[in-house]
Amino acid sequence: MQINTYYNQPTSPQFTSTRECVKDSLGRVINCHYSDFNRKDMDWEKFAQMLLSRFDGRAENIKINLFGCSDASDVYTLLLHMKKVLGKDFSKLPTIKASDISAQMIQKAKNGEILLHERDLQFLDSLDARQYFIRDYSKPIEQMRGIDFYPYKVSPELTKHVEFSVKDVRNEAKNYNFSNEVFIFRNGWTFMDLNNQNEVTKNLSKNSNKKTLCAIGQSDLFKSNASEFFQRNGFKGIESDVFAAGETNYPSVSIGMPAEKSTYPEFILFEKI
Ligand SMILES: C[S@@+](CC[C@H](N)C(=O)[O-])C[C@H]1O[C@@H](n2cnc3c(N)ncnc32)[C@H](O)[C@@H]1O
Repeated sequence: MQINTYYNQPTSPQFTSTRECVKDSLGRVINCHYSDFNRKDMDWEKFAQMLLSRFDGRAENIKINLFGCSDASDVYTLLLHMKKVLGKDFSKLPTIKASDISAQMIQKAKNGEILLHERDLQFLDSLDARQYFIRDYSKPIEQMRGIDFYPYKVSPELTKHVEFSVKDVRNEAKNYNFSNEVFIFRNGWTFMDLNNQNEVTKNLSKNSNKKTLCAIGQSDLFKSNASEFFQRNGFKGIESDVFAAGETNYPSVSIGMPAEKSTYPEFILFEKI
């Protein structure tokens, strides 16, 4: 069987995600679960180092809340880099709280089910982490956009560091106190309308302190107004080489896109003014 990877896919203006996307009657995307290991908008090792130094070099102080986790690719990418950076202190890292609005994605994540393609496997090999992912031969290979995805089970060695739950970031921003903690919601802002994006950043501002670190993704810069709303609602952007800016803006229309591109400077990391 031919193994397809992203590398041999021609760039296509008709790009469709490899994951399920839900559209409204106007054809605008209202939700999509696209994710990938080691997304190229971020230098994950530098991000892990940044978290360690922000929380005083103490693994036990790094409390991570990751929203819109989809199939948990982002969570495992971060976890494996935290392991590399923390070394023997990795066991002191508090359990990462990972959530998504989709009960279906969270059930799969809780079951430790994940679909991986060739590039994901290469990434795992680069961190010597293949042993945490066990091929599940009871399930068939799935094809999405011509790419082969292999069913894997995540080892409890890794899943024990994550607590998965169903959460809507709009409610959590209102109700949870993120003081001294990390808030991550990457590449999902465009699935909220502009009013909701504004409200989430306003509520985050009320429920954060100067130690809180907030992270979004490069796709949120392409397709939402999140970066501007953070800056209008009490946060400042953090200039950092954690932002690797390696993603492509694929043509698609979603409900959270501003009519015009923001004139504010763009950041993916924010802290309270
Ligand atoms: C495109 S995926 C991004 C996944 C991952 N964070 C990444 O960057 O690769 C966006 C995810 O956000 C979730 N999502 C959308 N709206 C949400 C909301 N209001 N609260 C929490 N999760 C949401 C979707 O279900 C989806 O799994």
